[in-house]
Parts: sequence; structure tokens; C-alpha cells
Amino acid sequence: MDQISESKIIGVATRRVDGPLKVSGAAMYASDHHFPGLLYAWPVCATIAKGSIANLDSAQAEKMTGVVAVYHRANIGKLYRVPPAAGMSLILDEKRPPFEDDEIRYYGQYVAVVVANTVEQARAAAESVKVTYNRDKPDANSKLLGSPLTTDKPEEKSKRGDTATALKSAKVKVDEVYTTPVETHNPIELHASVAVYDGQKFTLYETSQAVVNHRDVLAQMLGVPPEQVQVITRFLGSGFGGKLWPWPQSALAAACARNLNRPVKLVVSRQMMFQNVGHRPAIEQRIQLAAEPDGKLTAVQQDYVNHTSMLDDYDEGCGEITPFIYSTQNLLVTGGLARRNVGNPTAMRGPGAVPGLFALESAMDELAVSLKMDPVQFRLKNEPEMDESLNIPFSSRHMKECLTVGAEKFGWSNRTPQIGSMKKDGVTLGWGVAACSWLAARSETQASVELRQDGSARVACGTQDIGGGTYTVLAQIVSHETGIPVSKIDVVLGDSALPSGPISGGSWVTASVTPAVLEAAQKASQALLLVAVKSDGSSFKGKKPEDLELADGMVRQKGQAQGAVPMAEVLQIAKVNSVSGQGKSEGTLEDSKPKYSFHSYGAQFVEIGWQPEIARLRINRVVTVIDAGRIMNPRPARNQIEGAVVMGIGMALFEETMYDSRSGAPINNNLADYVMAVNADTPQIEVTFLDYPDYNLNALGVRGVGEIGLAGVAAAITSAVYHATGIRVRDLPVRIEDLLPMPKVNIA
Ligand code: MOS
Repeated sequence: MDQISESKIIGVATRRVDGPLKVSGAAMYASDHHFPGLLYAWPVCATIAKGSIANLDSAQAEKMTGVVAVYHRANIGKLYRVPPAAGMSLILDEKRPPFEDDEIRYYGQYVAVVVANTVEQARAAAESVKVTYNRDKPDANSKLLGSPLTTDKPEEKSKRGDTATALKSAKVKVDEVYTTPVETHNPIELHASVAVYDGQKFTLYETSQAVVNHRDVLAQMLGVPPEQVQVITRFLGSGFGGKLWPWPQSALAAACARNLNRPVKLVVSRQMMFQNVGHRPAIEQRIQLAAEPDGKLTAVQQDYVNHTSMLDDYDEGCGEITPFIYSTQNLLVTGGLARRNVGNPTAMRGPGAVPGLFALESAMDELAVSLKMDPVQFRLKNEPEMDESLNIPFSSRHMKECLTVGAEKFGWSNRTPQIGSMKKDGVTLGWGVAACSWLAARSETQASVELRQDGSARVACGTQDIGGGTYTVLAQIVSHETGIPVSKIDVVLGDSALPSGPISGGSWVTASVTPAVLEAAQKASQALLLVAVKSDGSSFKGKKPEDLELADGMVRQKGQAQGAVPMAEVLQIAKVNSVSGQGKSEGTLEDSKPKYSFHSYGAQFVEIGWQPEIARLRINRVVTVIDAGRIMNPRPARNQIEGAVVMGIGMALFEETMYDSRSGAPINNNLADYVMAVNADTPQIEVTFLDYPDYNLNALGVRGVGEIGLAGVAAAITSAVYHATGIRVRDLPVRIEDLLPMPKVNIA
């Protein structure tokens, strides 16, 4: 692959091109869209978690002021299932359309939807729809091990050597169970769908991390060709994975718009967000590690179970990182599912790796304690030479440097390993460390670039910016290739009618769009050079296009600044409005025999402060070192890591969705009772990027930074808590009562 090492713009801290639109309120989010005659929809949610609808009476609701219609199974019209997903297409979260039958499988499941002139009228009428149920006892229990599994025998995910024998004969061992609770995505922007139907075509304004997939799924569900559906997400108030795939409210809004021939807006409430649009599942993981007394790992076994819903087989994939992060001859990862009466789980920032690394990295810390080894040294000792699970080389791996640079910046050499031995200003300090990793990948992408006679450029791709900086990064790539300043480059995203682009997931947008946008920009440049040599009046007329180049926004003889003509002038002289180029790139995800193991790496160092007198636990500081290939733009990249670290603090200390075991209802279903890390919980976070380009992935050597910053944080925190208190918390989140020297009171 060609390598691009020099650039005036790649790697330069560039302001977000969409920043002014956001801070001035001009950026249009899904629910900002209003149309003449717009109606509001409000779903009726089941108040049981298991059973069936006995009777649904909408008579009273239909008579209420402003109500236009009440839809339910009998009158919503035809909605279709989607065929099984193949690769990155046709993925949706709930595998069947809303209202398909009368069975209730989770609390909050939509059973009807009211459409009215105002949102207040719709909501009031929704509360007046009378639904009676045949009630069964639900199972929303989040304790998983020892409970009935979906798979009789957990599936083998990765295996090498003879783990059982190695564990049996091990000199030093860890065998512990780690649990992580249900976590709910809580982006500030609520899920929303605004559906416009013109009698033939649907225009859907959605909160989507994947507009092209959303279009294809909705076309299937509505039973129309994809050309008759256009999905638009210009801006997203974040998603964290919860907005990757369509949820039932989108099909409901579209069906209502079709039935009524009027635009319909449906905004999912914060309470519904805890029921209807996904969560990270409850997970239990047993980790067994074995080592020689000198610290060499001899066996790693991870057995995880995650819950899933009645409608899906969602696998959290907790063993994604385990097979290649450390060197060991013997390894086994298994995964099983336990069905529950809950809404569908879905990907949440760093799915699999984040909870998986909480368990694995906690166990690594426990083993280091047993070995009386420094946890950084212990990890360095077990650094693999290659990906031992696939027997292929790492594309670019600098894990050791993440650990050593992080240790240096943190001041790790001053650590005294004895429990509670470090104090500052009367506060006990705890220092913890964890390693982390996340996949790097490309998915199939198309893009187009247009160079225009006013000196500006336009780049278009059917991907979307979910807040990570994709608008800015695309402008940087075009600027790199053409020399046109970022301020003169329009980036058009978030529309399924554009050339098909990647999902904003897996942290792979930047790696995916880079080759396609570079190719499109190169082709547009070639088209421009052709104009320059063919047009009357052009100073380049008759020259060979291959002797010319577009550089700094000017057409010139290769390498010669003299005689350069601005791109705008070349096009104006030729009386041509614009030239364009298309680019595309293949994905790496479908490659069944990859040549390289593509991943990003990092190390998390955490200091906590513990005051047992007042049971006060604080995160004092975090040092994060990330090896994520070349960094396109250090500003948004740092934002991504900082935000992810804050989310890791929430995971370690606060976040947990609780279900009432009788009703199956999520009970802390609001931002007051579902506690997340906020500014006051956020310490000083020092982010360092190693910035080694990964040229095996793309010409610029960029990978992605969306998720890795969250991986490892929780394990580093609980290891720091152990260092300060001597208490090992294996069940997240860490509760103050876990740390108090009192007998636990069992309130059964
Ligand atoms: Mo991310 S959980 O792949 O949006």
C-alpha cells in the first residue's frame, strides 16, 4: 500500500468545521425537523414484561382532543421482517416489526401508538389507551451464572493448547468471577424519527449511526424499494452504539406517515430509552489464569455469559481481545447466552472488549499480586511477538511503549505495592494500571469529491458524524490531497442518497473513508488536469496531464511553483463549473484470511484517593497512552479518549440499570436515578498518542479512536481501589458499602 508520510494538514490540530453550526444552534438534529401539517406520535408501552395482550381498547383515546389516530396490531398496516443480516447490511436490533403479535416479551414493548396534533395530546391519549394483559412471571434477573442458558453448552470462541491441563498443573493461579451490570446508553439527544411520505417516497429524519443500513432496513420493513426511502442524519447528539441499528419507533413513525399521508414525529422519551432502544447486557465472566513463578503466563481461560432478549441472540463477544493480547500457549474462550424478559441488548461503546477487559485485566492484576510482581512488568513480560490466535503478525503494535510511556508520565516508579501504603495530605492513594485494545478495521466505502470553479470543493459520503469529528476529518483528507484549505471544503454527510459509506461504529469510519476519499480527490484532480490541458486559453494547453499536478489548490508543472494557476481560474477559463471524481475502498472485515492482525492498543493509569473516615472515593487523575495509528486531528481525537475515560469512570463507579424482579421494569429509568459520571467526578485526564502510522490499513496509516479510551479504565480503577483498601471489587459498579469495614446487611 502507498504510504503517505508528509502532510501539511493530517495530524494538525484543526478546528471542527461543524463547530459554528453547533454552537449557534443552526445544526439540524432529527427532532428539529418540522413540516407543515406535522403530527406527533406517542407510543403506548406494555406495563408487563411477559404475557400477552388480552384486550386493547382505544375508544376513549380516539375521542380525545387533537387525536388523529390510534394504531395497533389490527390497523397499523403491513410491516415486514428483515432477512438475516449478511455482513454490514440489513442489521436491525429488534428482529421483527412492531405490533407483529400480541405477545409481550419485555417491559415497555410498544403495543399501540397515538398520533395527534400536539405531543401533549398524543401523550395524554396514549395514557388513556386501556390495555389488559394475560400476565406471566417475567425473568429479568441479572444474575446469570448457574441460570438457564440459551445455548446448552457455551460456544467455543477461541482455543489453543491444552488449557485444562495447564491450569491443573499451574504454580500460581487466579480463578475468579467478575460481573458487570446492565448499562444504558444515555446520549443527550433522545432517539427520534420524523417521517415524511409524499405518496410514494419516504424521507426519514433519523437519529442514526448508519443511514445507509437504516434505509435498507426500513425499505424492507415498509415493503418498498430502497429508492423510495431516504434517511437523513445531518447531526447526531451522540449514540454510543445505541443508534447503530434501527429501532421500532422508526418503522412506527413511517407507517403512521403513510397511513395518514402527513409528516409524523416520534421522539422516544428518556424513560423509553431504558426499555426500547438497547443497553449493554448484564455479564458474568469467570477468568482462570495460570503462570510460572517468574510471571510467564501459561494458561488463560475466559468463560462469559451475557443476557439477551427473547427476540435476539445478542453476543457481547467479551473474548474479543483475550486471544491476542498476551502470549500464552494455552487459551480457551467460551461464551453463552441467557434469555431474559428485557428489551434487546445492543452494542455499547467498546462492546465485548470493554467488559471483557474489565474481567481479564482485573485478573491480571490479581495474578500480579499473587506473583508479587509489578503489574506493569508482569504485562511487559507477557507481550506476544505475533497474534498467537491467528498466527499472523500484528500490523502495528506498540503495547509495550504504551505501558512504559504511561508509567513514566504517571510516575509509576514511585509506587509502593503494600496496601494502603501511599498517602498524600492525609488521603490514602491507590494506583492501578490496565492494558487495553480495540479492533481496527475498514468497511467498504464510496465517496465523491467535486472541485468547483469558485475555488471550493465538495466531498460527499453516505456516512455520518456522530460527534467524533468525521466532518472535519473528511475536509482534512481532501485538503491534504488538493491543497484547498479546509475552510473552502464543504463536507456532505448523513444522507443515504450519497455514495454508500460506513456505519459510525467499531471506531472504523476514519480508517474506512480515508482510502475512498483520497481516491476520489485524486480522480477529481486528474479530471481538473485534463481540463487544464484541453481548454483554449489555458496556459497548460497541449501539455501532458501526467506532467502536471494539483498542489496548494493550484495547477502547475510537477514540482514547479512558477506558472501555477489557481484551480478556480483553470475551471473559469474552460467555462466548466466543476470536475469530480469517485473513490471506493474495500473492507477488511469480510477478509476471512487476513494477513495482519489489526488492533489499537493502550494503557490506563489511575490514581484514586480514599478517605475511609468519610467513605469518600475519588478518581484523582488518569494517564492514558494510546497507540491508534496516525492521529488525523489531535483535538477531536483527544476529546474521544477523554470522553471515553469519563465513561469508564461511570462504568466503574456508578452506572447500573436495575430491573424490578416482579414487573421486569427498569426502575432507575431517568437521569436522576441512573447515575453517570459528570464534570464533578472527572479528574485530570492526560492523553498521549504514540502516533505510529499503520500503513497496512490505509495510505495515511490511520486507525480510529472512538472506543479504545473506555477499555481498561474500570479495571485500572478497581485495581487502584484494591491498592488503597485491600478490597477487590469484582462486581461493578464499586459501591461505597463494598469498601466499608462493616458486615453486609442482606435486605432480601
Ligand atoms: Mo460503537 S458501540 O461500534 O457505536
